Amino acid sequence: MKIAIPKEIREGETRVAASPDTVKKFVALGAEVVIEAGAGIKAAITDAAYEGAGATIAADAASALSGAEIVLKVQRPMLAAEGTDELGMIDRGALLVANLAPYDTPDALQAYADAGITACAMELMPRITRAQSMDVLSSQSNLAGYKAVLDACAVYGKAMPMMMTAAGTVPPAKCFIMGAGVAGLQAIATARRLGGVVSATDVRPAVKEQVESLGASFVAVEDDEFREAETAGGYAKEMSEAYRKKQAELVADHIAKQDIVICTALIPGRPAPTLITQEMVESMKPGSVIVDLAVERGGNCALSKPGEIVDHNGVLIVGHLNVPGRLPADASALYARNLLNFLTPLIDKETGALAIDWDDEIVKGVVLTRDGAIVHPAFAPKSAEPQPEAEPEAEQAEPAAEGDADEQAKS
Ligand code: NAI
Repeated sequence: MKIAIPKEIREGETRVAASPDTVKKFVALGAEVVIEAGAGIKAAITDAAYEGAGATIAADAASALSGAEIVLKVQRPMLAAEGTDELGMIDRGALLVANLAPYDTPDALQAYADAGITACAMELMPRITRAQSMDVLSSQSNLAGYKAVLDACAVYGKAMPMMMTAAGTVPPAKCFIMGAGVAGLQAIATARRLGGVVSATDVRPAVKEQVESLGASFVAVEDDEFREAETAGGYAKEMSEAYRKKQAELVADHIAKQDIVICTALIPGRPAPTLITQEMVESMKPGSVIVDLAVERGGNCALSKPGEIVDHNGVLIVGHLNVPGRLPADASALYARNLLNFLTPLIDKETGALAIDWDDEIVKGVVLTRDGAIVHPAFAPKSAEPQPEAEPEAEQAEPAAEGDADEQAKS
């Protein structure tokens, strides 16, 4: 069975879907692994390192993909209309495993179905204990949360920790983390390690204890709606107009006193909630920094611009795209591990061939298209029956599963 890893060709993508470590493990499972030349170079993985792990290097994408039963990618394949027909190079019947952004690109789903590809969207992985090691959102958000704090420090014109020197005292930076999921918790831990005075907000009540255990204070409107804001799958619900008004009043007061704000608030399948208005930005001191990790989904700050650092009256609003890709070596290593952990149970140990249990909760959670049709209940053409959300109503695993933020921050 051939597994192909082509070079990522979307603009700004630095990651790769396999590491020498995962290649070695796929080869041990009996697979033939073919990597396009140069696929890992932006993540500091040379072709020689892949070869050393047992892979074959193909000169171009077409030869890497030809005959592959499994195709591993970071980003969704380009369609002919986008300039390069990557999808057209993938064999009918192949299993494509990648971040497919199904909510943002509904038309591409039909293209996968028409191409006869079994497309798996890794970002739809159910948040259950068994799937923790396959959870690409967690592995990448954890790194993004860390990097967001460093990106803030890089443009912040002051120091983060308190420093008492002979020439005077430097006060610690006040950091406010908006959204305390995986990225937010890691941002809290990172800002604390750097010596900031950290506070955080979220709409899910379960978060309060996690925030406080990391040594940050919790700022939120804790009313009845807040107490019910978490879905069975562990995600945030979209909040009512009334709640958002109360939240905005509380945040407006708090944000004016902050030096660094890291925004991470997301709602699956919806645009990111706007939490920082222009007026709030204008209440902040010049020299303050906002890093908007939600910028790709519309942004939590009304003034953030994708891929830009906006200067609004001296407040810098950082809108870097693909923040996990700003740490390509670690992001690739963890992402590649997630894919290996997802695929290993799908490969028969005796024959080395794919043996997929299509009724498995994990498989059903991620498979978008199969046998020429869109099969995922959240995306399949609407029938008379109401369609469930993509998020599974499942047992939720331990929060903050990714990384060691908790332990490190406590130490
Ligand atoms: P996410 O990336 O969808 O959202 C980030 C955070 O923004 C969330 O904490 C969310 O509650 C918050 N948020 C949404 N709207 C907001 C608003 N209006 N104001 C303030 N905050 C807002 O979430 P993420 O990081 O993917 O985690 C979601 C849940 O899944 C968490 O409970 C997490 O602990 C859990 N989880 C479970 C895992 C597993 O079992 N495999 C692995 C990772 C996370």
